[in-house]
Amino acid sequence: MGKIERLLKELTTEHKEFLNKMKEFQERLEKEFSEETVEEIIKFLDEDIERHAKKEEEDLVDAIEEADANFDSGALIFGHQTLNDGIDDLKTAFEEYKNGKADEKEVIKYIDRVFILLKDHFVEEEHYLFPDILKLDLEI
Ligand SMILES: [Fe+2]
Ligand SMILES: [Fe+2]
Repeated sequence: MGKIERLLKELTTEHKEFLNKMKEFQERLEKEFSEETVEEIIKFLDEDIERHAKKEEEDLVDAIEEADANFDSGALIFGHQTLNDGIDDLKTAFEEYKNGKADEKEVIKYIDRVFILLKDHFVEEEHYLFPDILKLDLEI
């Protein structure tokens, strides 16, 4: 297995783990809203998702450039900006909630939005980006 194929497999496995984690978070919030759960979600986004994004932007981009210097890896990074904007909006809503300026529903709305962005992003990577990248691995 080439370096690119190995990385793509690892990233795809992480997507599955993240989907499970998001489902678990949403079930917990449905049962009972708590600040602790929201804090855990923000930590998950800032740490686990951030680490994953770095793996794509750095390790995967390096491997792609080794295989084909002309491959446009911009698409890989572009989607992350939308995600980061959604995460910032959630953080703002949570701050407002803590200051009594927003209610639980508002916070949940932004969590749902980030999770939808993430799910769509994983689908885009697995269905379009990763297959294109994998071709580079098979060509060399
Ligand atoms: Fe990504
Ligand atoms: Fe990813």
